[in-house]
Amino acid sequence: MKYYKKLIGERLYLSPVNLDDIEKYAEWLNDLEISLYLTGTSEVYTNDKEREILENLLKSDTDVLFAIINNDDKLIGNLGLHQIDYKNRKATFGIFIGEKDYWNNGFGTEAINLLLNYGFYFLNLHNINLEVYSYNERAINCYKKIGFKEIGRRRESIILGGKFYDEISMDILSNEIKNDFDSMIENFQII
Ligand SMILES: CC(C)(COP(=O)(O)OP(=O)(O)OC[C@H]1O[C@@H](n2cnc3c(N)ncnc32)[C@H](O)[C@@H]1OP(=O)(O)O)[C@@H](O)C(=O)NCCC(=O)NCCS
Repeated sequence: MKYYKKLIGERLYLSPVNLDDIEKYAEWLNDLEISLYLTGTSEVYTNDKEREILENLLKSDTDVLFAIINNDDKLIGNLGLHQIDYKNRKATFGIFIGEKDYWNNGFGTEAINLLLNYGFYFLNLHNINLEVYSYNERAINCYKKIGFKEIGRRRESIILGGKFYDEISMDILSNEIKNDFDSMIENFQII
């Protein structure tokens, strides 16, 4: 089995990352149309480098990574929680959908809602934050739709093509999301 249905949505599910997909991840991360929105825009990702990054993330106790898989079992991206701080119940979120045909179609919103439910109701986190570049309006709109709020800006901290852009900080609390926990477990008998 290549993927496992850890968290199931309507049009997609979140699975543990499969290291057989390294080449696909490296292909996406070398695609400027995608990486312009991510940290590491100027990095060059070989398969070996991407394997090392993923292996380290998968070994880490403070990162949780999922592959985003559509209902036809096709990998479309990945997302995760990072710098998980179990004492203060907080973490940092990141996502990219590598299959560009899937942008602007609600897949990001659905995947993020699943991950937030996992973070808040399975890991018992309370605060999840993210950083997004000010020119990434699609991501900003997606995050606002979900309930993330802007909490500050680091001004002119990104330089791209000779122009300055801000990094926007956003966060969301455990009581500010759509609670899907009950529907996730409704078919199970819990004693
Ligand atoms: C960011 C990302 C995860 C969002 O997922 P998605 O499935 O494309 O987003 P959704 O369709 O759920 O929501 C996007 C919203 O932004 C809107 N939007 C799209 N392009 C826009 C633009 N140029 N300006 C303003 N709003 C825009 C969409 O209309 C939609 O809002 P709506 O549902 O109210 O119509 C995905 O596009 C992606 O991975 N992009 C590349 C990598 C990236 O940016 N990662 C995030 C780094 S912080």
